[in-house]
Formats: sequence, structure tokens, C-alpha cells
Amino acid sequence: MSAFAYVDGRYGPINDAAILVEDRGFQFADSIYEVVAFLNGRFLDFDKHLWRLRRGLAALFIEGVMEDAVLRAIAARLLRQSRYRDGILYVQISRGAARRNHGFPKASRPTVVLTVRSFDFRQRQQQLQAGVAAITLPDQRWARSDLKTTGLLAAVLAKEEATRGGAFEAMLVNGDGIVTEGASSNFHLVDGEGRLVTHPPSTAILAGVARDGLLQLARQAGIEVQERPFGIGEARAAAELLLTSTTAPLLPVVSLDGRPVGGGVPGPLAARLGRLVWQDVVRQTGWAA
Ligand code: PDD
Repeated sequence: MSAFAYVDGRYGPINDAAILVEDRGFQFADSIYEVVAFLNGRFLDFDKHLWRLRRGLAALFIEGVMEDAVLRAIAARLLRQSRYRDGILYVQISRGAARRNHGFPKASRPTVVLTVRSFDFRQRQQQLQAGVAAITLPDQRWARSDLKTTGLLAAVLAKEEATRGGAFEAMLVNGDGIVTEGASSNFHLVDGEGRLVTHPPSTAILAGVARDGLLQLARQAGIEVQERPFGIGEARAAAELLLTSTTAPLLPVVSLDGRPVGGGVPGPLAARLGRLVWQDVVRQTGWAA
């Protein structure tokens, strides 16, 4: 079985799941989503993802969504049904289906979709040892990148260009030369003094759950954290570059636009933070590779 889905009350294989053509998520990307990891059958940081989901729904004025406890119960049932041990939960909530018109429909019910699929996180531990490549691209997204909406075309095109260039991720750079984030991850650098530098939360980036976890672990370990914008020049000259996301808890970026970052191999802080991040995953879920 490839994956399982819940769509507005129905459970089943993902290939049998369907939404209406006039769903506003499909027509306008009028919807919010979340991606949550599960390992050893336990969801990672589910509370933080639900909090961000609610924030996004409120920002889009999408009302009438079932309570968190119900969303959790649906997710748990999908997970049981799938029997997957490690994987990814996807949640998408749109404003619902209505006759096509840009303005909000007078009456519509949100469409709630959840899917689970398996994912092998061991590949990320291998990449943690080897490091990954990134390329820089202009950030062409809209001005509310803090909202996790399904309007992802700019990110899709950037990721495709990165993939075609043999890179794992695209590092997005705004018109002022500031590195905002990745196409689907947050970027961080380690400066010459061993400080961890990362873009502050703002409307220009998605405040990643993995980012949040990383900063907390770094501070607890006595590593100085600076939340401030950094430019492309600083990124190129950094001692280390790192990225985080739900599906890639911590990865060292060892090459940028084909040029080595730092020594061109994962640095000491990547190794140290990588250990801390994976220890935290194990603490939360009991996961063993
Ligand atoms: N993407 N920035 C962007 C633009 C993202 O799409 C993501 C996550 C992140 C990292 O957020 P988090 O740590 O909460 O996963 C940052 C998910 C994984 C996706 O779209 O598949």
C-alpha cells in the first residue's frame, strides 16, 4: 500500500481519495497545511504543528475546523491503519468547495485532508555524515511566507532548479541580498566565533518547528544564538551552513553553488548539533535506527 488518506470523514488508500474540482484549495491555494514526522509510531512536536496550523487558519479566516483532539484522533487512526513505523503525516485544510469566485463564499465548510506515508529517516542520518549541496536562487515568493499555505509554486520551481543542478536544496535570497530560507527548509550559519546565526521570525520566513527545536537545543548546550538576517556574502564565507526541516531535522550544507562551504565537509558544530537533535528525536519517540 502506498499511503493512506482521510478526506472529510472517509478513510482509505490515497489513490481512492478525492476532493471536488471546486475546492478552493485546488482553485486558489486557499488552504493551510502542515507536515508532521512520526517515528516509532509517535508524532514529533505535534503540539507545535497544531499551534502553527491554527495560526494559519486564523490568518486566512478559515473557520469551523474540528478541534485539535479530533485532528489528533484522525491522525492516530490513519497511523494505526497504515501500520507504518516511521513516516510523514500531511494535513491540509482548505476553505472548502464553492462556486468559483475570488471572495469568500457565504456558506462553505472547510475541507479536511490528512495523509500518512512511510519515510525512512535513516537516509537523513547518512546525509548528516556526508553533507548536502545547495544552490542560491532569488526569493520570488509572496510577502507572507510565514503562513504555511499551499501556494507553493515559487518553492516548487526553486526546488526543481536545485534538483536539476544536482543540489538538495535552494537557498532563497531576497532583493536586498538577504538569505531568507530554503525552498522547504530553514537555513542557519555558523560564524567564525562558533555562533549559530539564523534569520529572525518575520513575514519573510516560515518559523520552522525544527528551527525552533534546534535553537532551543543549541542554547541549552551553551552555544550562542543570534537571530538576525544574514547576507549571501556572509553565507558564502561561513564556517558552516546548516538547514533544518521536519523531514530533514538537521543537515550540513557543504557546497553552495558548486563552491565548498568552510572545509567542504560537515563541521564540528553540525556534528554536535546533529547528535543533540537526534537525541531529542529518540527522547520524544523512542526511535532506534
Ligand atoms: N516544509 N521553510 C519552508 C518554506 C518550509 O516549507 C519548511 C517545511 C520549513 C521548515 O519548517 P518545519 O521545521 O516546521 O518543517 C521552512 C515542509 C517540510 C514541506 O513543505 O514539506
